[in-house]
Parts: sequence; C-alpha cells; structure tokens
Amino acid sequence: MLELQHIGKRFGEREILKDISLSVEKGEIVSILGPSGCGKTTLLNLILGLTDITSGKIIYDGEDLSHVPMEKRGFNIVFQDFALFPNLNAYENIVYGLRNRPNASTKAEVEDLIDLLGLRKHLSQRIAELSGGQKQRVAIARTLVMKPRLLLLDEPLSALDGIIKESIKERIRGIARQFKLTTLIVTHDPEEALTLSDRVLIINNGQIAQFADPQTIIREPADDFIRRFILSQLMVKRTNILKLFSESIPKADSTVDAARAVSASAHRAQAAA
Ligand SMILES: Nc1ncnc2c1ncn2[C@@H]1O[C@H](COP(=O)(O)OP(=O)(O)OP(=O)(O)O)[C@@H](O)[C@H]1O
Ligand SMILES: [Mg+2]
Repeated sequence: MLELQHIGKRFGEREILKDISLSVEKGEIVSILGPSGCGKTTLLNLILGLTDITSGKIIYDGEDLSHVPMEKRGFNIVFQDFALFPNLNAYENIVYGLRNRPNASTKAEVEDLIDLLGLRKHLSQRIAELSGGQKQRVAIARTLVMKPRLLLLDEPLSALDGIIKESIKERIRGIARQFKLTTLIVTHDPEEALTLSDRVLIINNGQIAQFADPQTIIREPADDFIRRFILSQLMVKRTNILKLFSESIPKADSTVDAARAVSASAHRAQAAA
C-alpha cells in the first residue's frame, strides 16, 4: 500500500502542493486529474523520488521512503516527454532495463508487448525517426517490461489515436490486475480518468478536490470546480455524441443498432463509389 501523509511541495516561495494525504491499495489503478499546472507531474516526481518533498511522508508497505533515493524505491515511470535514449533504437530502448533485471519479463512477454503496442515494424528505428505516438508506445513498453512495484504514468495516452488508445487502456488494466501492480496515471482527460481507474484523484490549486471512485464523482461531485470543469466537459461530449448519432440515424434506438446502421451505410457508400 502507498501512503502519502500531509505531502507539501514548494518551489522557492511558490507552494505547489498542499497537505496531500491519501492511501492507494496494492493493485489499485488511480488516475490523477486536474488542470494544467496544478501539480500532477510534480506529485508523480515526488513519489518517484526525482524531486524532494518539502514536508510530509511517503510510506510504501509500511516503509518510510520519504528520503530514500529514487533507484532504491523500485518504482518506474513513463515520463510526459518520454525521456527515451536517442542513441538507441526502439527495441534497445524497450529492453534497456532488462540489462540489470533480466528476469523482470520473459522473452515471450516482451514480444507480446511489442505486438500489442504495434511496435514490431519500428523496432530498428532510431528515436528521432519515430512519431510522437510511436515514441509514447516505446516509453510505455520500456516501463511495462520492468513490472515495477509502483507504476507511474504521466499522460501516457495523450499522443495515441482512438483504437490503439482503448487497447492500451485495456492492457494497462490487465497488467495492473495480473501483477497486482499499483498504478498511478496522470491525465487531463476526465473520460480517460473515469473509465480507466478504480479511483480518481482530482487536484485543484495544489490540494485534493476529491478522491473517490468514478461513480461517486459523477453522482456526488465534492465541489463546484468538479461540477464545472469535469462533469460539464463529460456532459458536453455526451450530448455531442448522442446528437451526432440521433441526427444521422433517426430510427436506431440502441447503440448496437446505431453502430450496425452506421456500418451498413458505410458499406452502401463504398458500393456506390
Ligand atoms: N523544477 C521546478 N521549479 C520551479 N517550478 C516548477 C518546477 N517544476 C514545476 N514547477 C511549477 O509547478 C507547477 C506545477 O507543475 P506540474 O508540472 O506539476 O504541473 P502539471 O499539473 O503536471 O501540468 P501539465 O498538465 O501542464 O503537465 C507549475 O506552476 C510549474 O511551473
Ligand atoms: Mg504534467
């Protein structure tokens, strides 16, 4: 179990995080959601050990890690800017950590991740020759092969397109469940946070606005910020999608019917072309 006790962080005179206290169960997936600049990356860096806390404690399985160096914590991160090794190719980046811990993943598990993340064609490419989404997938693979006891992901899905994003969400969930990997995922997308995780930590002005499961956040938002910035975004999305479907397929009355109708009309359009 990860416990944060009254964590505070200042950069000079600026107070970035104030009195953050929470516990995360082993194997739990928690999303960290909040506006740009609210301190999400800072919080991950504090837990990772890359940045020092100003006050409070970080406890993992009863052990006080507050001032334990990063490499001794057994945590791993997918950085927001990927931080890949530019002098190595994609494959060498993916298996880099296995040099020190060769048993962290089997060969078959590495191959499986490469296929799942759609990286097979890109293995011998240099990092500078990859697109943003490809780099992001290499960064995810490189971290997942190590099966850290705490997995930290900073906006890991932001550069991915729809279908691959959904399959990677599934895989992150699957790996977290299978290996009982405690996972913290930063995102600024409420839909991603509420569909991916067991609980969502909402940060505003450096403080916890709410830490609860998705249903509770939707049914009982703790304050106006959550109502205005998070729930209203989801409602706008919901309204737009429903409007789109109801306008193009007036008679379809269920999602499955709607999807069939869309696919049938696409086939008709193709046949006519
Ligand atoms: N090393 C640093 N020195 C001084 N200020 C910093 C440092 N790192 C971050 N900050 C400040 O701390 C605040 C929080 O930054 P952080 O990167 O944690 O935000 P974030 O929530 O991850 O934002 P985004 O969604 O844009 O990634 C920002 O105002 C930032 O300017
Ligand atoms: Mg950030």
